[in-house]
Amino acid sequence: MTLTPALLAFAACLPVLANGLPQAASSASTALPTSTAVVPGLNDLAISAGKRYFGSATDNPELNDTTYTSILENYAMFGQITPGNSMKWYATEPEPGVFTFTAGNVIADLAKSNGMVLRGHNCVWYEELPDWVTANNYNATELAAIVANHTGTLVGYYAGQMYAWDVINEPLNDNGTMREDVFYDTLGDSYISIALKAARAADPNVKLYINDYNIEYVGTKSTAMQNLIKQLQADDVPIDGVGLESHFIVGEVPTTIVENMQAFAALGLEFAITELDIRMELPATADLYEQQKTDYYTVVSACMQVEQCVGITVWDWTDKYSWVPSTFPGYGDACPWDSNDMLAHQNYERKPAFDGIAIALQGQSI
Ligand SMILES: *[C@@H]1O[C@H](CO)[C@@H](O)[C@H](O)[C@H]1NC(C)=O
Ligand SMILES: *[C@@H]1O[C@H](CO)[C@@H](O)[C@H](O)[C@H]1NC(C)=O
Ligand SMILES: *[C@@H]1O[C@H](CO)[C@@H](O)[C@H](O)[C@H]1NC(C)=O
Ligand SMILES: *[C@@H]1O[C@H](CO)[C@@H](O)[C@H](O)[C@H]1NC(C)=O
Repeated sequence: MTLTPALLAFAACLPVLANGLPQAASSASTALPTSTAVVPGLNDLAISAGKRYFGSATDNPELNDTTYTSILENYAMFGQITPGNSMKWYATEPEPGVFTFTAGNVIADLAKSNGMVLRGHNCVWYEELPDWVTANNYNATELAAIVANHTGTLVGYYAGQMYAWDVINEPLNDNGTMREDVFYDTLGDSYISIALKAARAADPNVKLYINDYNIEYVGTKSTAMQNLIKQLQADDVPIDGVGLESHFIVGEVPTTIVENMQAFAALGLEFAITELDIRMELPATADLYEQQKTDYYTVVSACMQVEQCVGITVWDWTDKYSWVPSTFPGYGDACPWDSNDMLAHQNYERKPAFDGIAIALQGQSI
């Protein structure tokens, strides 16, 4: 027999909540606080505050989950989406010169039908490449043509549909040197200008971004990114924005985010928080949830303080589809909404982190 939520609650002698799910049985999960904010939606708040969007990453395998999509497709909540995987190189050019946009189009169509801003992610990255890019020992002439063709074809295909593209993803090492991947090893840093110029030629209106992590605070890597931008500008290479990924840890959010944003703003370009999540070491506790609320507040209010920060994207809004547990074993609960897991008594509830975001977007103090 299938246990409906009401039957499960009956079986466990638990009260049924208004959402049809049994109330949590374990004291560990009942102890976790939830949101108390009463607000129209985070995107509405962001737009009222003069930002372009508050949005989320999403991914094709999640879209058969109708509870998930009913929240994702609420424009008041999310005015922007980023495809988590389906526009990456392995997905869009799996064989040389063979382009497939079917999966990417699912995300682009979702944005279109909901009036959402779309961020393209990404053109050139050392990971999630199809084998052929690295396996064929291409020489510089060949690889330059491949980078230009991949970027130009991808950006050209979606021309007119995208607000921005992460043309270059994660080009720097944490010590500020260029990452030694197939592109750098073959082409030096010229691969960056090759891709940016191809992107501009393919879509004159889309914002061209370089996206990276550990550049959200004052330090060696951020300085290296600023120097890279200055060099591109000096060389007349088109560059419009910087993506500050912002994958943080609860209690360890950097204290120099605003100062760092001001340094990027001084370069005359825009930037965005592109992949925000704030993970904690499991098991979650009420204290960790409260600290996470403060931490989300800190990051979002930094964006509110600097005009050139155009928007904020969370790297999915629910713990159910977060990349964190599989990438950082022992860590999780990084998103502003919890999971939907009957056994853990979670049903896409908003966490206190949601309130931290809402308070910041309203320009209030926590
Ligand atoms: C959606 O499809 C995936 C397989 O792609 C499956 O694992 C998952 O259970 C499905 N989810 C729903 C809600 O049907
Ligand atoms: C690169 O390889 C092509 C063959 O695909 C060859 O014509 C060209 O001369 C090579 N370029 C260099 C710089 O070795
Ligand atoms: C990519 O290469 C194909 C095959 O040579 C060509 O038809 C196409 O125009 C190229 N596209 C771009 C944007 O360079
Ligand atoms: C910078 O980091 C990279 C990657 O970890 C390493 O290969 C390189 O040697 C480092 N360079 C310096 C100058 O420390």
